[in-house]
Amino acid sequence: MSITIRRERPEDFRETEILTRKAFWDVYKPGCDEHLVAHKLREAAVFVGELDLVACEGEPIVGNIMYTRARVIAANGQVHEVLCMGPVSVLPTHQGRGIGGRLIEESVAIAKEMGFAGIFLYGNPFYYARFGFRKAEEFGVMTSDGKSYDYFMGLELAPGRLAGVSGNFFYDDAFHVNADELEEFEKLFPKREKHKTSTQLF
Ligand SMILES: CC(C)(COP(=O)(O)OP(=O)(O)OC[C@H]1O[C@@H](n2cnc3c(N)ncnc32)[C@H](O)[C@@H]1OP(=O)(O)O)[C@@H](O)C(=O)NCCC(=O)NCCS
Repeated sequence: MSITIRRERPEDFRETEILTRKAFWDVYKPGCDEHLVAHKLREAAVFVGELDLVACEGEPIVGNIMYTRARVIAANGQVHEVLCMGPVSVLPTHQGRGIGGRLIEESVAIAKEMGFAGIFLYGNPFYYARFGFRKAEEFGVMTSDGKSYDYFMGLELAPGRLAGVSGNFFYDDAFHVNADELEEFEKLFPKREKHKTSTQLF
């Protein structure tokens, strides 16, 4: 069945969170918290509803992408608005079929139309390079504490739009999840065992 991409609707929220939990479970740590992050981001003032897309195979939702407005703050205090991409999730049973790629490409096209300067994210450089993302440091953008990593990347949405946008990158507090709120939120989902796996960085 073919995949369609559309805006997420309130009646999709629960299904999207279940899918996000399945996509991230045990990938970066035992269990995951990205489903709670997705839940909190929608309530955040910086959430960009126009870029909250789901991929559907018929009715069921098999993928999701979300964005928030974020800031690059220069040493002189100048604030530049950019986008932060994530989470991006595709059901494990549907990964590797180009669905994540379509969610990224279609949302990037909308972000360009909306006039955003650029997108920053934390993710696998080998995956995101194919969409044109480069190490954020190449744009003069560092993490909030002034660091640079291969997996901290940026994409300029039109030629020259990130020229002069340099400084430290700050994303919304909704990305920070504490153990108590995660434990409470997890009660809404079927119990699932956590494992240590080779994909986990820490
Ligand atoms: C990352 C993710 C969204 C990609 O979606 P997808 O539909 O599987 O991706 P696509 O089919 O468009 O692309 C598949 C390609 O990306 C590669 N790829 C997918 N996830 C990758 C990752 N985390 N790191 C490196 N490469 C990855 C695959 O190896 C494949 O490569 P190929 O085209 O050379 O064979 C999906 O795998 C997922 O939900 N992963 C778990 C959650 C996650 O890590 N999200 C991203 C971090 S925010």
